[in-house]
Amino acid sequence: MMFSSLTHLECTACHERFDADQLLGVCPACGKVLYARYDLDAAAATLTRDSLRGRRPDMWRYHEVLPVRDPSNVLSLGEGMTPLLDALRLARRYGLRALLLKDEGKNPTGTFKARGLCAAVSRARELGVRAISMPTAGNAGAALAAYAARGGIDAYTVMPQDTPAINQAECAIYGAHAYSINGLINDAGRALRDLAPQRGWFDMSTLREPYRVEGKKTMGYEIAEALDWDLPDVIVYPAGGGTGLVGIWKAFEEMEALGWIGKRRPRMVAVQAAGCAPIVRAYLEGKSHAEPFENAHTVASGLRVPVAIGDYLMLQAVRDSGGTALSVTDDEMLAAMREMASAEGVFAAPEAAATLASLPKLIDLGTVTPKDSVLLLLTGAGMKYTDLVPVSLPTVDSAALP
Ligand SMILES: Cc1ncc(COP(=O)(O)O)c(C=O)c1O
Ligand SMILES: [Zn+2]
Repeated sequence: MMFSSLTHLECTACHERFDADQLLGVCPACGKVLYARYDLDAAAATLTRDSLRGRRPDMWRYHEVLPVRDPSNVLSLGEGMTPLLDALRLARRYGLRALLLKDEGKNPTGTFKARGLCAAVSRARELGVRAISMPTAGNAGAALAAYAARGGIDAYTVMPQDTPAINQAECAIYGAHAYSINGLINDAGRALRDLAPQRGWFDMSTLREPYRVEGKKTMGYEIAEALDWDLPDVIVYPAGGGTGLVGIWKAFEEMEALGWIGKRRPRMVAVQAAGCAPIVRAYLEGKSHAEPFENAHTVASGLRVPVAIGDYLMLQAVRDSGGTALSVTDDEMLAAMREMASAEGVFAAPEAAATLASLPKLIDLGTVTPKDSVLLLLTGAGMKYTDLVPVSLPTVDSAALP
């Protein structure tokens, strides 16, 4: 049985094709994003909806449509198959037919970044890479470092100086060569872009290599499988580099080719922080590319991405799906963190809570209506952000509990 049906790489902009077994970053012809392509007819011989029932409970259950050719090269920490929770109380509060929470905080390293980096590090190692590097807003660096440790290869991460302490600690404890920079993720990226080729490090920046998006797309497969192939009406995604959003969109295309779903698609919503909203601005201005966002700032460090190479892919998915792009303030995110935790028992990261914060606005805009089922992609665990929840518990003696 063939483990992966990977056939070639295809440029998302100029559509040139390339050999998938050579190590490539962006399109050698035009510098845009490369996508992995599969022989989906061949995949369908073994990968059927029924076949999934007996498969391993992680994202590698979809291995025919993932890029690793030899199963012994899969570096797994148990990523994927995260819970899809029915948020009855919040659904009632917002007057929706259904509100679903996909809790990606349950992944290794506490965020959905594990999926992308699991796929990309596994594949890079399969192609002979021994050292990888990445600029990171924090959580991706942690996942990179974890999978590099698992694979016994060297990892180099560069993150902004004010990245949450937990992300710095994660990179360090997994044994990465971790550095900080006085700047943002795009400055870190620029610093590494010149250095990495000189040092022989393979650049794992999001959408600057073809396989992180392959890991992220498994969220789309899981959503469909969990809902018995009946997709929600709306999916709300907190967008930085946008890899998850475009990955889910790619999964829908593949699942339609596999005959698993029809033409109907969820409306895809990209939520950004008001202090860093390049995609929202481009969406509102009708542009297909986004300008760099000046003075980017937000407590949701994962959303502090002023420039994204996949901007055109995000904007396409949002527009083609009839969705929208909108922003929420930091205060709205922090309030939504508390609301989600107290109403549903889910302590989500501020990036994740941005999706809930956007709901009232989406209802006002008419993008979400009461008859819709809405899925919020909760990309990370709130437990990584305890500094955003300052508390001072009242001290009592045992006889004096109120
Ligand atoms: C928790 C969390 N959510 C969302 C994002 C944004 O993800 P993407 O850059 O793939 O759009 C990040 C990125 O760092 C993140 O850490
Ligand atoms: Zn190209």
